[in-house]
Amino acid sequence: MFALLARFFEMEAYFMTTPEKNEPEKNEPASTVERKKVIFSAIQPSGTITLGNYLGALKNWIGLQDKYDCIYALADLHTITVRQKPADLRRHTLEAYALLLACGIDPKKSLFFIQSHVPTHAQLAWVLACHTQFGDLQRMTQFKDKSAKHPDNVNAGLFTYPVLMAADILLYQADFVPVGVDQKQHMELTRNIAERFNGIYGNVFTIPDAYIPKEGAKIMSLQDPTKKMSKSDENVNASIAVLDKPEDIMRKFKRAVTDSESCVRYGEGKDGINNLMGIYACVTGETYEQIEKDFAGKGYGDFKSAVGEAVAEHLRPIRERYTDYMKNRDYMEHCWSDAAQKAYGISNRTLRKVMKKVGFVQPKCS
Ligand code: TRP
Repeated sequence: MFALLARFFEMEAYFMTTPEKNEPEKNEPASTVERKKVIFSAIQPSGTITLGNYLGALKNWIGLQDKYDCIYALADLHTITVRQKPADLRRHTLEAYALLLACGIDPKKSLFFIQSHVPTHAQLAWVLACHTQFGDLQRMTQFKDKSAKHPDNVNAGLFTYPVLMAADILLYQADFVPVGVDQKQHMELTRNIAERFNGIYGNVFTIPDAYIPKEGAKIMSLQDPTKKMSKSDENVNASIAVLDKPEDIMRKFKRAVTDSESCVRYGEGKDGINNLMGIYACVTGETYEQIEKDFAGKGYGDFKSAVGEAVAEHLRPIRERYTDYMKNRDYMEHCWSDAAQKAYGISNRTLRKVMKKVGFVQPKCS
C-alpha cells in the first residue's frame, strides 16, 4: 500500500543518500566547487534492448550528462557469465553501442567505452575478489536466481560477477551509480567492499551511492504485469524493443493485459493499467492526475492506442539515428577507441594506488 501511495504521489527519486548531499554550497569559493560529481553506469550488451531498459536506465543516463562527469560502459565482460555465441556477442555489442549513441549518449560530453577494452577492470576485480567474503557473494539473490536458471553452467564468474561490477565503479571514484532496483544489493556490496578496503589501507576509494530513478524504474511485462519486462520472455507481445517498428509497438500495446474495470486510474490490483500509465507518463512527461483527467470516460482501447502512439513516436527518431550509426562503423570505432584510452588513463591511476597500498612492488613506469 505504501509503495502504491508513494508511486501515486510521485515521490522524489531516492538515493541511498540524496545526490545533492555532497553538492557544493552556492557561495563556496570557486576552488572547492570545480570538480563535477562522477556518475558511472554500465549495461550488458546481451541482447535486444527493451523499452524497460530504455525508460528504466538509458533515458535517465542521457539527462545526467550536463550536470555530471558521466562514464558509461557496455559491460561485455559481464555477459560471458552466461554462455554466449561469439558472433551474437559481437553483434549485440555493436548494436548496443549504436543504440546508446542513438538514444543520446554524447561522446563529447561523456566517456562511453566497452569494458573489455580497458584491462584495469579485470585487474582490480582480482584484488577486490581477495577482499570479498565467499559468504557475502553467496547471499546475492541474482547469483541464486541465475544459478537456478542455468544449472549446467554455474561458473566462478557468475559467482564473482558483483566483484567485477564493484571494480567498474570504484576504478573511476564514482559518486553516484544510476541502476535499477535489481542492482541495489550489488551496490550495497560494492560499498561494503570499498569501506572494508579503505578501512585496511586508508582512503583509496570514493564510497558510491546508488541512484534509483523515480519513474520507469520497473517497466512490467505487457502480458503479465506482475513480472518485469524482459527481452528473454517467450511471449513476443510481452516486451517492446527500442528498435521495434511502429506497427509492432501498436499491436503489442493493443494486446496488453489489463483488468475488467475499464477506468483509467492508478490503483491497487490494476497492475496492467498502472504499468501503461507509468510508460505513458515517462514518454509524455504527464502526471498521473493529468492522465486520469485526459482519459476520464474513455475506454481502455483508446488509452492503449494513445500509449502505443506516444511510445512509437518517442522511439522513431532513435530508430532512425540507430540506422545511421550502424552504417558508420568507422565513427563508432573512433568513439570507442578514444573512450577506452581515456578510461584506461583515469582507471589506471586508481589501480596503481591500489597496487601500491596492497604491497606489490611497482614497475618503473606504469
Ligand atoms: N550488472 C549490471 C546489470 O546487469 C551491469 C553493470 C556492470 C553495472 N557493471 C556495472 C551497472 C557498474 C552499474 C555499475 O544491470
